Amino acid sequence: MTSDRLRVLLTRRWPEAAENYLAERYDVTHNREDTPMTADELARAFEAYDVICPTVSDNIDTDVIGAAPLRTRLLANFGVGFDHIDIAACKAAKIAVTNTPGVLTDATADLAMTLMLMAARRAGEGERELRDGRWTGWRPTHLMGRELSGKSLGLVGFGRIAQATAHRAHHGFGMKILYYSRSAATPEIERNLSAKRLDTLEDLLRQSDVTSLHVPGGAETKNMIGATEIASMKPGAILVNTARGGVIDHDVLAAALKSGALGAAGLDVYPAEPAVPPSLLALDKAVLLPHLGSATVETREAMGLRAAANVDAFASGSPLPDRIA
Ligand code: DGY
Repeated sequence: MTSDRLRVLLTRRWPEAAENYLAERYDVTHNREDTPMTADELARAFEAYDVICPTVSDNIDTDVIGAAPLRTRLLANFGVGFDHIDIAACKAAKIAVTNTPGVLTDATADLAMTLMLMAARRAGEGERELRDGRWTGWRPTHLMGRELSGKSLGLVGFGRIAQATAHRAHHGFGMKILYYSRSAATPEIERNLSAKRLDTLEDLLRQSDVTSLHVPGGAETKNMIGATEIASMKPGAILVNTARGGVIDHDVLAAALKSGALGAAGLDVYPAEPAVPPSLLALDKAVLLPHLGSATVETREAMGLRAAANVDAFASGSPLPDRIA
């Protein structure tokens, strides 16, 4: 396939450097308005473009991929998570899929720490109080939170982002690192992070002052943190999620925050974004961010260029560097 004829669709607005990189090389359709594409528009795109570059806001299921003759041969996803793409359907339709691993590790680990700190130190609550004009001045018992120093951090999943979070928490805050993961990290990684692997999720939840979720979204992890798991957590514990919203049963979480069983939660992701579970919106103990994990100028540009590198490989017939299907 010659690159000058490659038709590429960016479903959302991208950082300028990455948009320009692709526009200089391919016949690119941009989404200047940055409005989410409808299922119908996406379905039509599969008939019109060689490459579609979707994001987490595009739900690419069997209805969208459809049965019509498809032009699309590559989905170069802008993002590392791909639970919004039906991988089996892509394989059946012979559409390759790539993602952008590695480049958003630090930004997402930073945001996990931000949520931990905001939840522990009641930062959202304090800011709302001040902006609402309700702050009456300094006093010894005003908005007392908790310190992270010396506390135990339990990581569910222990991939790149979890390890980068552990690095910050251990070396920056003196937190004790525990993890639960299907596979063990190397002895060197465990040594560097003073990390201890626990055999069961329940053990991890029982021993952690703060739990941070780092597993992929999808059927396998849906409601992984439900009633039993939340009941296993230490009284007053903090739960942080920068992974995918579906991993937590949010009704159970809201009830546990309301009853005081859990101390606080810091969430960046939700099961049906951009909807936020209404049960959480009224709770001061829930810190709620709008899926900002990778949202830095540096990282979003790197994500775009990484997706573009996969488009380049596809155009030149080379192996796709970040192929997931
Ligand atoms: C990611 O890269 O997975 C981010 O959550 C955005 O999709």
